[in-house]
Amino acid sequence: MDFDVKNTDLAPGGRHRIEWADQEMPVLKGIRRQFEEERPLAGIKISGCLHVTTETANLARTLQAGGADVVLCASNPLSTQDDVAASLVHHFEIPVFAIKGEDNHSYYNHITAALEHQPNITMDDGADLVGTLHKSRRDLLDHVLGGTEETTTGVIRLRAMANEGKLTFPVIAVNDALTKHMFDNRYGTGQSTLDGIIRATNILIAGKTVVVAGYGWCSRGIAMRTSGLGGNIIVTEIDPLKALEAVMDGFRVMPMEKAAAVGDIFVTATGDINVIDTHHMELMKDGAIVSNSGHFNVEVNIPGLEELAVGPPRRIRPFVDQYKLPDGRKINLLGEGRLINLAAAEGHPASVMDMSFANQALSAVFMVQNADSLENKVYSVPEELDKRIAQIKLEAMGIDIDVLTDEQERYLNSWEEGT
Ligand SMILES: NC(=O)c1ccc[n+]([C@@H]2O[C@H](COP(=O)([O-])OP(=O)(O)OC[C@H]3O[C@@H](n4cnc5c(N)ncnc54)[C@H](O)[C@@H]3O)[C@@H](O)[C@H]2O)c1
Repeated sequence: MDFDVKNTDLAPGGRHRIEWADQEMPVLKGIRRQFEEERPLAGIKISGCLHVTTETANLARTLQAGGADVVLCASNPLSTQDDVAASLVHHFEIPVFAIKGEDNHSYYNHITAALEHQPNITMDDGADLVGTLHKSRRDLLDHVLGGTEETTTGVIRLRAMANEGKLTFPVIAVNDALTKHMFDNRYGTGQSTLDGIIRATNILIAGKTVVVAGYGWCSRGIAMRTSGLGGNIIVTEIDPLKALEAVMDGFRVMPMEKAAAVGDIFVTATGDINVIDTHHMELMKDGAIVSNSGHFNVEVNIPGLEELAVGPPRRIRPFVDQYKLPDGRKINLLGEGRLINLAAAEGHPASVMDMSFANQALSAVFMVQNADSLENKVYSVPEELDKRIAQIKLEAMGIDIDVLTDEQERYLNSWEEGT
């Protein structure tokens, strides 16, 4: 079996952590049991370009239980959990091409290695796999039935490809499922981003001015959770509706130009480029902490910071690079500007990934069963899958809800009854 992981001796620890995460993933576990019986992915080759974490390991096991032949590569050079990669290879015979801290060259070599698997289904987080396939391995396109995409940034890129007529197979936007972005992006990113910042810095959040760039699903979660720890939140936005929502949620809203001078900690989660630019960093206080939780490491202008700084940065703690400005002020960049929740912490907790990856597993089956009738476009997860996942999650949590009575059903569907 061909693979490239850091060290297979790490496998036992990885296996424990995979099992630990599995306890919090009842929906995916149920799907795995069903897959074992029905084998809906028998004979299907899947290449996954995903963050190689304990939760992803449980997704890969589930796809394998469904009969799929799975390989994995990383969707970010800093997000791989090396012990998990080792365990997937050693205990589950799933080839993995991913090493935490790999350079860009190895990152893309690993993507190419995952493509050599000749996938029938691509499973992406950020669309690097589909992008590489369309740019440099078009010879493999014929094998592909369709794909799935995990995150906001990937969905945006794939929609752009489809609009230009460049996408050559259908893709399901897992991110668009309500059981994905309402929970994963909000509560998952909210908690794990703070976890990453705290693990990297060990700073007290209470009393700090925390500037959150964006007020979308992820950034809203970050603002909510940081506020809960006593941070004074400032939100920056470009969308008037989102800005208004932030104001009414009780947060200060101002342009980054103003926020830059008063923030102690900065977090971006916009999917946009240079949201914190050189001219913003020039205004920051001594000791400012700058981090990103958006998909790519472009939200903070790192080349700009490098130009601004005197000499190379000092790695003062793991995941903290301290840049010195000519007047002696220091700016601390966390996790090389890569998603801090995966770089310095462990990504989203398993309980929330349970729903995201249930969507992935069921979408893969939907794609196998329906690819013939789909166009080369980006599709939403079918509503009935979304509802089913929410229902199973509630059941797993031991929570019952009310059911419409016949009278209520009639009332809600009628137009005749008034006051
Ligand atoms: N860290 C993680 O684990 C994780 C998890 C899910 C998604 N993501 C990524 O996080 C990013 C955001 O995802 P989302 O689902 O919250 O997207 P979203 O579309 O819901 O929110 C993005 C927000 O950023 C705002 N924005 C855009 N440019 C801006 C700018 N220059 N200044 C201020 N605000 C700006 C938009 O108006 C929007 O409200 C994406 O890159 C996504 O792929 C990361």
